[in-house]
Amino acid sequence: MLKDFYIEDAVKLPEGTEVELLGWVRNKRAHGGLVFIDLRDRTGVIQVAVKRGLVPESSFEKAEEIKQESAVKIRGVVRHDPRAPGGVEIQCRDLEVLGPSLDDFPIKKGVKVKFILDNRHLHIRSPRVAAIMKIRSTLMSSARSWLEEHGFIEVNCPSFITAAVEGGATLFKVDYFGREVYLTQSSQFYQEAAIYSLEKVYSLQPSFRAELSRTRRHLTEFWHLEAEMAYAELEDMMKVVEELFHAMVLGVYETDQRELEILGLKIDPDVAKPPYPRVRYAEALEILQRKGFEIEWGDDFGADEERELSKEFEKPFFVTHWPKEAKAFYHLPDPREPSVCRNADLLTPGGYGEVVGGGQRIHDYEQLLERIREEGLNPEDYKWYLDLRKYGSVPHSGFGLGIERMLWWLLRLPHIRDACLFPRTPARVYP
Ligand code: 4AD
Ligand code: MG
Repeated sequence: MLKDFYIEDAVKLPEGTEVELLGWVRNKRAHGGLVFIDLRDRTGVIQVAVKRGLVPESSFEKAEEIKQESAVKIRGVVRHDPRAPGGVEIQCRDLEVLGPSLDDFPIKKGVKVKFILDNRHLHIRSPRVAAIMKIRSTLMSSARSWLEEHGFIEVNCPSFITAAVEGGATLFKVDYFGREVYLTQSSQFYQEAAIYSLEKVYSLQPSFRAELSRTRRHLTEFWHLEAEMAYAELEDMMKVVEELFHAMVLGVYETDQRELEILGLKIDPDVAKPPYPRVRYAEALEILQRKGFEIEWGDDFGADEERELSKEFEKPFFVTHWPKEAKAFYHLPDPREPSVCRNADLLTPGGYGEVVGGGQRIHDYEQLLERIREEGLNPEDYKWYLDLRKYGSVPHSGFGLGIERMLWWLLRLPHIRDACLFPRTPARVYP
């Protein structure tokens, strides 16, 4: 029984058409000889009127007793009725319970946030969550389409790793048959290896950060869209990021109007239309200092700083040329001004902050070795990564985009965990 007929198909049919619908009982109201069921499937909700006398008596009794979230098969007739929500209802002829709810459904209005999170496996049935997940899927497929159309090849990288990409402080340790290894923070280094055969690559897979910060924008496991390009310099990378970003927003705008409506949102794809403003770190620092932040040259921006800075912009914007103290060792120092690197973060407007981090990588062997030593890291741990600079090394650049961060911004979600089917945060690994 592969389902290929949905509520969204039924509402388009003329008055009097007979239909069979499979779905779940979202709600039920009884008025004497009439029971109204709000039937839900992945495409929406429709009112089903079950009238005593018009259905077999056993079906009417089932309708009277049925509990929320029971799975049902409804046979009935389409009726266009301006009083029904959405203007269409189904006049039931027969009702079959496929899977009853054994208890009252625990997710109700007014329950606490913690309860909802503990019952995420049930809460995800809400049309709101479903809409977010549909949009998430569109973001990913639009990204893939754009990247494939622009000559990027998808690669898959390991999740067990032996050395940090983004600093030791956020590494998750794993006992690997008695040996200490880590969960990946980024596939960047593997992609840097892959460009020497595939030239332009991307990957879309989870990254992990043991970040204890309980903020509205940190997950311990997130989906990381990363790309790496041989021969590309910082400016090339930014152009790819802005075009890709626009294509992703446009994808949602073009395919998910129904979902946006459920979320009560209108998005304007022109907000994400390139080119994006570029500000140097030095200018951004000045803006923040003027706003009263006690922040010094070399400091990375925290959530508060990013929020304030991003209120200054109407479009996504790049903060470029970060001091090397603020970022990981692999960023290429600018030959014209070696205290800063040829890198860029993309920040979103409206107080949401960083969504993309990337830049040009050091491609010279000696320079990379020196930066590794300068950071107090052990070159032995980066042996294979250094090796890449020994054989035909070329300038190259890349970036990483956090899928949940992007959704958080695009859909104005209260918390980044709302962007995940089953979020992973310091406080949450269940369900
Ligand atoms: O800025 P980050 O740490 O950069 C890297 O990992 C690079 N190695 C990527 C690359 O150049 N290939 O992370 C990139 C993006 C961030 O901008 C953010 O969107 C997301 O990954 N991110 C997180 N998202 C949710 N929770 C966290 N704890 C995140 N940490 C990073
Ligand atoms: Mg970053």
